[in-house]
Amino acid sequence: MITSYEIFVPMLMGSGASLRTGLKVKQLGCSRVLVVYDKGLKDAGIADTIVENINNAGVETVIFDKVLPDPPDTMVEEGAVLAREAGIDGIVAVGGGSSMDTAKGINVLINNEPPIMKYFGVQKNLKKGVPMVFIPTTSGTGSEVTNMCVISCTSRGNKDSVVSSVCVASLAVIDPDLTMGLPPKMTAATGIDALAHAVESITGSQANPLSDALARDAIRTIAKWLPVAYRDGSNEEAREQMILASTFAGMAFTNGLVHLGHSIGHTLGAHFHIPHGIACGIALPEVIQYTSKTEWKKVRMICECLGTDVPDDASPDEIGAAAKTALRSLIKSVGIPNLKDLGVSLEDALKAAPAVTADAGFAMVPYRITAARVAELLKSAYDA
Ligand SMILES: [Fe+2]
Repeated sequence: MITSYEIFVPMLMGSGASLRTGLKVKQLGCSRVLVVYDKGLKDAGIADTIVENINNAGVETVIFDKVLPDPPDTMVEEGAVLAREAGIDGIVAVGGGSSMDTAKGINVLINNEPPIMKYFGVQKNLKKGVPMVFIPTTSGTGSEVTNMCVISCTSRGNKDSVVSSVCVASLAVIDPDLTMGLPPKMTAATGIDALAHAVESITGSQANPLSDALARDAIRTIAKWLPVAYRDGSNEEAREQMILASTFAGMAFTNGLVHLGHSIGHTLGAHFHIPHGIACGIALPEVIQYTSKTEWKKVRMICECLGTDVPDDASPDEIGAAAKTALRSLIKSVGIPNLKDLGVSLEDALKAAPAVTADAGFAMVPYRITAARVAELLKSAYDA
């Protein structure tokens, strides 16, 4: 077996880790950094604390606090103009996936001419950007350890991504203290996103022993601690375990890749404006059940991580059914709504199936599946 594990981001982990941000930024050789975040983070007081910490280390800061959900290309390009004019030599992103994706897009445009849409796809020859430090404040996207940014293309009305080493952080600061104030709904949605990263990467076409190990650990941790973090947001151990699981799942999927669950998630998100984590969780049990037809050994592994006993002589279909039941139970336990709960009609949901097969990530699905079969999965998940 030949495998490669190419993407690795140095990390600083633990309670209070973000209080060393300034020191780390200085050690990276930065003297003036762009700090990227959204207004919510400013209101929560987290952004000001990080900025002050950076300034106290003798590093100047330039603020870009206009981050929007599903980062539009125009907003990224505005940030890049600011970064270039201010002559920054580093970027610090604080927040969820949107802040980190924005920072990555800005970094692409530091030394490469806009528009950002010119660079959608896998890019091997981009000019380098500046060192980036990512500080996640949610436990789910794993964006702090991936090599891609997802950008909304305003002229085409869709989302696409830049995949490049220019999108890789120089350091990820993983501080569970920053997630303590996350409300239950956000905790659940981001946690299920991390679960989807782990179970899809473990069954994905690029899975390798290291991504499997990271994914298995993430699934075990999420199964145990996500319901606790959801019920009791102030449980420090649950928050610490969940941010570790999110990062491990991110490392797993940036190397093992995600597949059908995320293609369905992207499509439902775009059609019905459903948050990413919820959209990825809606049909995840059905996807893994279907995946068991070819990847039953891996799906058995998922069952074990979820604490579900599967008899030694179980058939692929039985293994798939057990995984579906266990995943649905976990997803339900943290209040993730189904399509019916979200007010989507069954007819509209089924109409979205062909778009799933047109999703950029659909090529990563490790088996052949038709739009009609995807519609069956959506029908099964509709009011589950
Ligand atoms: Fe995701």
